[in-house]
Amino acid sequence: MSATKKTLTIGKHTVPYPLVQGGMGVRVSAARLAGNVAKCGGIGLIATAGLALNCDCATGSNYFETDLLALKEELRKAYEIAPDGVIGTNCMVAVSNYDDIVRASCEGGAKIIVSGAGLPMKLPALTADFPDVALVPIVSSLKAAELIARKWNKSHQRMPDAIVVEDPDTAGGHLGEKMENIGNGDYDQYATVRAVKEYFRAKWQLDIPVIAAGGVWDRADLEYALANGADAVQMASRFVCTEECDADMAFKQAYLDCKPEDIGLIMSPAGLPGRALKGNLDQIRAHDIDGNINCRSACLKKCAYRDKRDRFCIVHALDRAQRGDRDSGLIFCGSNAWKANKIETVADIFAELFD
Ligand SMILES: Cc1cc2nc3c(=O)[nH]c(=O)nc-3n(C[C@H](O)[C@H](O)[C@H](O)COP(=O)(O)O)c2cc1C
Repeated sequence: MSATKKTLTIGKHTVPYPLVQGGMGVRVSAARLAGNVAKCGGIGLIATAGLALNCDCATGSNYFETDLLALKEELRKAYEIAPDGVIGTNCMVAVSNYDDIVRASCEGGAKIIVSGAGLPMKLPALTADFPDVALVPIVSSLKAAELIARKWNKSHQRMPDAIVVEDPDTAGGHLGEKMENIGNGDYDQYATVRAVKEYFRAKWQLDIPVIAAGGVWDRADLEYALANGADAVQMASRFVCTEECDADMAFKQAYLDCKPEDIGLIMSPAGLPGRALKGNLDQIRAHDIDGNINCRSACLKKCAYRDKRDRFCIVHALDRAQRGDRDSGLIFCGSNAWKANKIETVADIFAELFD
């Protein structure tokens, strides 16, 4: 039997294929993409960051209230596409309304919460009333996984249902490693995957799925990941150039047009490095700083733009990109985005990976 023909069980939820579609904010992975991935037999994740900026389900001017309504609406729409699918949310610890977003995910029917951009230490407490919701931290090191396990065990008598190990050298979006440590050849993604797997086995007698994220593009990458210790993969960039991806066609076209040298590291105002198309950074900054744009929502716990007018307002830069503004929008992407050469369907990708 081919190595790719295996199911994935996280907590109480099982899908036919070992694939999680990575959360992509702001609204790059919303209901349509997540619903279609779930329909094809993977785990579909709605990225919760910045949903309020496009909410037609509420008229309120309050960003945070609107965010929760918008999230529940996206979950409802995703389940319309895949009523029996496994649909979850991606919740970033770095956002100001993290606690509320996690609770709204549970109330809205998310079966899985995948959480990174900081250590999700409070996740078990926030979801205590929803024991069937599987909890999946994203880490980039064994140390982070150990810290989470020890804290969850001590404070909540709970363990992660799976772990995503995200490779800072290849993944898109915010990265969980210091800028100076990225791309210097020191990081070994699959050594980290195996170390995390072994840690949970040896220390906690737990065989939880360890999911490799970053740099998985095609079937060969998937087979490599599974042969090197991963139980499943989380893929994000590959899903951008699908018909179902929730971003504007111009966002997808930027992937189709880009070359390896267009992809690079940026410093996010959230204080984390990120991987993105880097050609228009000056324009992004000029849009916000020259335009004297004020922080409108205080969406991040820590933000250099809000506090010091440094860099740019990230949620609006990502929002502009999602709407198709390639001049002043920030386009996050993984190191493989240049490989995109056509618009395909989610089903095409599943067929290529698993048929
Ligand atoms: C456009 C884009 C947006 C992303 N947004 C988020 C996000 O909101 N939260 C998060 O945890 N990860 C985010 N990521 C990271 C992905 O979920 C995923 O782990 C990573 O990109 C996997 O690598 P790949 O793109 O090479 O498949 C984003 C990635 C991309 C490409």
